[in-house]
Amino acid sequence: MTIAVYGAGGIGCYVGGRLVAGGADVVFVGRQRMADEVAAHGLRLTDYLGADLRVADVHYETSPEAAAAADLVLLTVKSAATESAAEELAGVLEPGAIVVSFQNGIRNSEVLQERLKDQVVVTGMVPFNVLNRGGGVFHQGTAGALDIQRDPGLAQYLEDFVRAGLPLTQHDDILPVQWSKLLLNLNNPINALSDLPLRDELSQRAYRRCLAAAQAETLALLAAADIEPAQILRVPMRRFPAVLRLPDFLFRRLAASVLAIDPLARTSMWEDLQAGRPTEIDYLNGEVVRLAKSLGRQAPVNAKLVDLIRTAETSRLAWSGPELLRELQR
Ligand SMILES: NC(=O)c1ccc[n+]([C@@H]2O[C@H](COP(=O)([O-])OP(=O)(O)OC[C@H]3O[C@@H](n4cnc5c(N)ncnc54)[C@H](OP(=O)(O)O)[C@@H]3O)[C@@H](O)[C@H]2O)c1
Repeated sequence: MTIAVYGAGGIGCYVGGRLVAGGADVVFVGRQRMADEVAAHGLRLTDYLGADLRVADVHYETSPEAAAAADLVLLTVKSAATESAAEELAGVLEPGAIVVSFQNGIRNSEVLQERLKDQVVVTGMVPFNVLNRGGGVFHQGTAGALDIQRDPGLAQYLEDFVRAGLPLTQHDDILPVQWSKLLLNLNNPINALSDLPLRDELSQRAYRRCLAAAQAETLALLAAADIEPAQILRVPMRRFPAVLRLPDFLFRRLAASVLAIDPLARTSMWEDLQAGRPTEIDYLNGEVVRLAKSLGRQAPVNAKLVDLIRTAETSRLAWSGPELLRELQR
């Protein structure tokens, strides 16, 4: 069985590379600059626990046709690129192929299924953070196991993911898991605006209060929409804002695991701003604004974060915690 990783950047090279290391037959499809990086260096996959894995034999292609023979496609483009990737895949995939969206956000699978009528679309979720350090090095900075919507077609691939050291946790209903991930991703714009590594940013109460405000607003909307976010961390998501608001010394003591992250880890939204690329803000905080609208309500904190990132996409600016909190409270 052939697996294709479509849009092989940070997540795709890491997950696909681990699958290759476990013995799976994987073709990577992505951009020429990544193909060149991988051709020059191969893949080196490291993690926050000190793992260091080298994968030399990497089949990286740049044309959609390379995915044609795949029975399983792992889609790892950013959300804004889902539509065009779906159209490319619709032109090459065999009927019945399984396409897994391993992306953040809530509605990528819907976008895919609309364009891939003869294929099976499955929603996945990547809980950990991966940083491309250049030279073919991809670093997993935080913990977590891959989540996926239960689907009978996945049975034949489960062992590949186990051998890769990335076992899939299957869920009957993945939507509550997606919303929990989105609640955590509400930190992406705050981290990007802080211009700090995640650990430094989350160590400061003012930034955590910004995140607590965005999460509390979202939790109220989810309750109104009758969606109970899944518990993906030790603390139930509903109690997260209260934990985030704790003074620094208590937070360090009671939520040490939140800060037990690689000192270099940052969010991909920060990377996007650095590279001058459009961010996924519309699919994260923007999704909360959309939910609010659908309920006839408003989401002023998340709407403000969307605006601030829009501004930061064109002019770079680092916000201190107190400055950002004041702006969100206005
Ligand atoms: N990075 C993380 O730590 C992390 C963690 C959890 C979840 N996620 C989620 O995982 C998804 C992927 O994130 P990422 O960080 O891996 O993104 P990424 O590094 O930007 O990788 C995506 C790659 O796909 C390429 N691409 C876009 N459209 C394509 C197409 N039609 N055909 C072939 N290649 C295409 C992109 O090239 P261009 O840049 O030229 O478009 C880019 O090289 C996002 O939804 C993200 O939110 C990321």
